[in-house]
Order: sequence, then C-alpha cells, then structure tokens
Amino acid sequence: MEYKKEILKFSGMRQCIVLTGSGLLAFSENPAGRWGDGTRCAIVTNPVVSGHYLERAREFLHQAGLECFEVIVPDGEQYKNPGTLELLYRAFVDRRLNRSDVIAALGGGVIGDLAGYAAATFKRGLRFVQIPTTLVAQTDAAIGGKNGVNLDAGKNLLGTVYQPEFIFIDIQTLLTLPEREFLSGMAEVIKYALIADSDLFGLLEEKRAAILERGQEELLEVVTRCIAVKKKVVEADEREVLGVREVLNFGHTFGHIAETLTGYTALLHGEAVAIGMKEEAAVARRLGAINDDQYETVRKMIVSYGLPDKLPGGFHPEAVQDILSQDKKIRTNRIRLPVLTGIGTAEIRELKCAQLL
Ligand code: NAD
Ligand code: GLY
Repeated sequence: MEYKKEILKFSGMRQCIVLTGSGLLAFSENPAGRWGDGTRCAIVTNPVVSGHYLERAREFLHQAGLECFEVIVPDGEQYKNPGTLELLYRAFVDRRLNRSDVIAALGGGVIGDLAGYAAATFKRGLRFVQIPTTLVAQTDAAIGGKNGVNLDAGKNLLGTVYQPEFIFIDIQTLLTLPEREFLSGMAEVIKYALIADSDLFGLLEEKRAAILERGQEELLEVVTRCIAVKKKVVEADEREVLGVREVLNFGHTFGHIAETLTGYTALLHGEAVAIGMKEEAAVARRLGAINDDQYETVRKMIVSYGLPDKLPGGFHPEAVQDILSQDKKIRTNRIRLPVLTGIGTAEIRELKCAQLL
C-alpha cells in the first residue's frame, strides 16, 4: 500500500491533500482516514469511466464515511457546456445537497472541469474532491483548482479557481486509457520537464520503454514529479495574476493556433501542445535562449514519445497573425511567452507578435 503524499497550501489556511499510488482506489484502507463521516457525495463521471472505476471509487469514498450516489453525464469535450452543468445542478437539487456535502469528479479533465465548476458555484460552493483517471488530469487538470465549461463562442469561457480538498490519484487507472490519450498526456509531462525539471527530462529519456509500457513504478515517479512542479507554480500564483503560472502555457500559444487551424477535431490537445512546444523551442532558438543542440533535443524527445512535431501544411504567417490578433492574452501586439532557456528552465519574455513568425 505504497503511496505518495503532497500538500498544496494556499492563502487563508486552505490546503489540498494529494495522494498518489498504484491501486490506491482498491487499497484496503483509505489512506486519508474517515474525513467525510455522514456526508453525502455525488460522484460525477461518464459511462466509459464509470464502467471501469465507479464501484472502486464508491467503496474508496465509503471508507472515508461518505454516502455516495452517481451522476453520469455523456462522454466528450462537446458536453463540457452549460447544458450538462444544468443536468448536474438538477441532480444536486433533487438530492437536496447542501454546503457540507461533497462533489467527487471521477474521470479525465472534462469531468474534472465540469464537476469543479458545478461544485464551486452550486449554493456558492460545496466540498470538492478530484479522482483523475487520465494522464492529462493526473498531472495537470486536476491540480491547481482551475475549472470551466465551454460556450459556443469559445473554450473555457466560464470558469473559476476552486481548490479540491483532496486529489486521489490511482495511476493503475492509466492502464485502461486509449494509447492516443496516454501519449497526448505525455506531451504535458514533457512540458513540465522542459520548463522546470531536468531530472524528469533525464528520466523520460532513460526509462522511455518502461514509461511507454505504463510501468507503474516509473509512472508513479513521473506523475509525482509533475505534481511537484505544478504545486510550486500554483502555490506561488494561484489565480494567475503574478505572471508565475503563465510558464505552464509553454507550447500552448502555438498549440492553440494548431487547434484553431485544424478545427479542434483532428488533433488531441496534447498533440497540439507537442507541435506548439517544438515551434516555441524554435522561437527560443531564434532568440538565442537555447542553442541548436538543445532545440534538437526537444524535438527528438517529442517524437520519441510518438507525438507529432509538425502541423500538416505548416503555420502560414498570415494565418498565425490572424489568430494571434484575436487572442485575449495579446495587448498592443505584444505577447508574454514562456521561453525555454535550457532543458529544464524557462522564463516569461514579452515579445512582439512578429517575433513569433
Ligand atoms: P477527457 O476528459 O475527455 O478524457 C479522454 C477520454 O478518456 C474520454 O473519452 C474519457 O471518457 C476517457 N477516459 C478517462 N479516463 C479513462 C481511463 N482511465 N480509462 C479509459 N478511458 C478513460 O480528456 P483529458 O485529456 O483528460 O482532459 C481534457 C480536458 O481537460 C479539456 O477540456 C481541457 O480544457 C481540460 N484541462 C483543464 C485543465 C485545468 O487546469 N483545469 C488543464 C488541462 C486540461
Ligand atoms: N493548465 C494550466 C494551469 O493550470 O494553469
């Protein structure tokens, strides 16, 4: 019953306990103890994840004293919207949930973002727990409190920052993840290594075969290292107002352009980020922040994890300029971009948009 524990601390004595282990949900004892005696818990999940993990999650939360019921929403990014939110609120009303009750998100980033937003807003905030089951969610989406739903006008246009009390990460759940989803998650892992953890980068090189086979020992090390990086960043800048959290956007500016140019359906988010990281490494090379060898090291790492490093058809400067002009992060034609300064270090630089082309 080996597991790792991390505590994220925020202003106002708020904290979030992260427990990570292989087989955590099936441990004979809940390592967090009986923290929810007598409270009710809505487990928000989808048909795919519930088929694999609902009973395990229910038993795990039951050990903590929670009386659980499930709310199943359809699977897919297209359901991360106000319509699904309404379904959740209705289920909470039907069960008469109140502020001492708990919402648990069981699934990937879509479920976490939806359930997190519902938990933050229903009756001005219910207790919240994350049980992430994708690599994206275990290393990124479930950590740091951001949640959100999409509007027709754009992605994540509704959202808050609302911390879960607990994040329970069972890396065994990654064994059932489709290969493409797993590799897409590896793009975010590579991102953490590039911006903040050269040892993680070394691990990704050295243990590539075992990681790709989803070896549990190696994944435990990888996931906990990513959490440690994210913890540092979000503790320093929980609400992304100090410029520190922006570093997590490495690869995302060009990633967003790639997603826009391909209509959001051809590429998974991590695949777009992989392409974006290579493009932004090229920007760093042009600025002299990294050299040719470092650029090539970045590119090879991306490709070695089965991720794309090129946008089919390439980035046409006019199209890039057009998309950038609509980006809400851009003011007076300048952009704050995370720029790699080595393998494992990055800094935010304010650049003219023209420097990206
Ligand atoms: P996802 O939630 O859509 O999950 C991918 C697919 O895998 C889904 O079909 C899901 O049902 C399935 N699945 C989940 N766990 C599984 C398992 N263990 N075994 C088998 N199948 C499983 O996608 P995602 O990549 O996890 O999350 C993407 C979403 O996360 C986006 O909406 C993005 O905006 C959001 N996100 C949020 C943050 C944040 O900070 N809040 C950060 C990154 C991404
Ligand atoms: N996924 C970026 C962030 O949490 O800030």
